[in-house]
Amino acid sequence: MTAILLNNIKEVRENIKNWKKEGLKIGLIPTMGALHAGHASLIKKAKEMCDKVVVSVFVNPIQFGPNEDFDKYPRTLDTDRNLCDEIGADIVFAPSPKEMYGENTRLSNNELTFVCPPYNLVDCLCGKSRLGHFDGVATVVMKLFNITTPDYAFFGQKDAQQLFILKKMVKDLNLDLEIVHCPIVREEDGLALSSRNTYLTQQERTNALTISKALKEVSKYYEKGITNTQVLFDAAISVLDKNIELEYIEFRDFETFEKVSEVKNNTLIAIAAKSGKTRLIDNIII
Ligand code: PAF
Repeated sequence: MTAILLNNIKEVRENIKNWKKEGLKIGLIPTMGALHAGHASLIKKAKEMCDKVVVSVFVNPIQFGPNEDFDKYPRTLDTDRNLCDEIGADIVFAPSPKEMYGENTRLSNNELTFVCPPYNLVDCLCGKSRLGHFDGVATVVMKLFNITTPDYAFFGQKDAQQLFILKKMVKDLNLDLEIVHCPIVREEDGLALSSRNTYLTQQERTNALTISKALKEVSKYYEKGITNTQVLFDAAISVLDKNIELEYIEFRDFETFEKVSEVKNNTLIAIAAKSGKTRLIDNIII
C-alpha cells in the first residue's frame, strides 16, 4: 500500500474529515523522520488499534536550542515513506516549517502562541539542558493534534519525559484523544534505537552501550531487593564507560514525576549522557 504524501494542512484535514464521516478511528504517530524500527513499532501498533494511520514527519525548529542539531538532524523522507508504505500507513504528513509556522522560522514566544507545560515538569531532566525544548514539543504536538484530530496518538517510552508531559497536556487541556505509551525498541545488544545513533562512530557506539548496561545493572540490584536510589545510582555509575559524559541519572515516580529516594513499582530511571558529541537518552520503568 502506498501512503499519500501531503505537505498541506488543508488536504490533511479534508482526508480526515471524510474518514471521520465514515466513523473511522484515526491514529497519529508524530515523528521528526529518520524513521527506524522504534517508529515502525509505533506505526504497527497504530495499525492494530486504528482504521486509518497518519505519520507526521516534521523536524520541528521550535524544539531545538540555538546550539543544537536542528540543521544536521537527518532528513530522509524517501526512506521514511518506504517504511510507511511497507507497514501500511495511510498518510505521511510532511509539512514545511512555513506551512506549520508561517513566514517566520526560529520562532519565539513573542510571535507565537505556545503551549507551556508545568514548570516542575520542564525544569528537570532533559529540560535543564534543553531550555524551551518541551514548550516547543508541546506546541507542535498540540498543532498536530488539532490538524489531524486523532483518536489515538502513539509515543515511545524512550522519550519518557516527553511522554509524561504530553499525557499531562491531554488531561489538563481536555483533549479528546488517548495517548498510547509504547515500549522502547532496542538493538540486540541493548542500545536504545534513536535517530541520533547515526551520529555515533563505532567506538562511541560501543561506549554508548554502557548506558543501557547501567540501567540493566540498576534493575538487577532492584530485583535483589535494593531500593535506595543512592546505592542504585552508584551501581549505574560503576558500569558506565569512563568516556561517557553523564548529564543525569534520575529516579522519578512515573505517576507524579516527583523524585524518589526509594525505588518502587512504576519508578522511572532515566539517563542522559553524551558519547562523543552525541547526546543520548535511555530509561527503564520498574
Ligand atoms: O519525539 C519526537 O520525535 C518529537 O519530539 C515529536 C514528538 C515528533 C515532536 O516534534
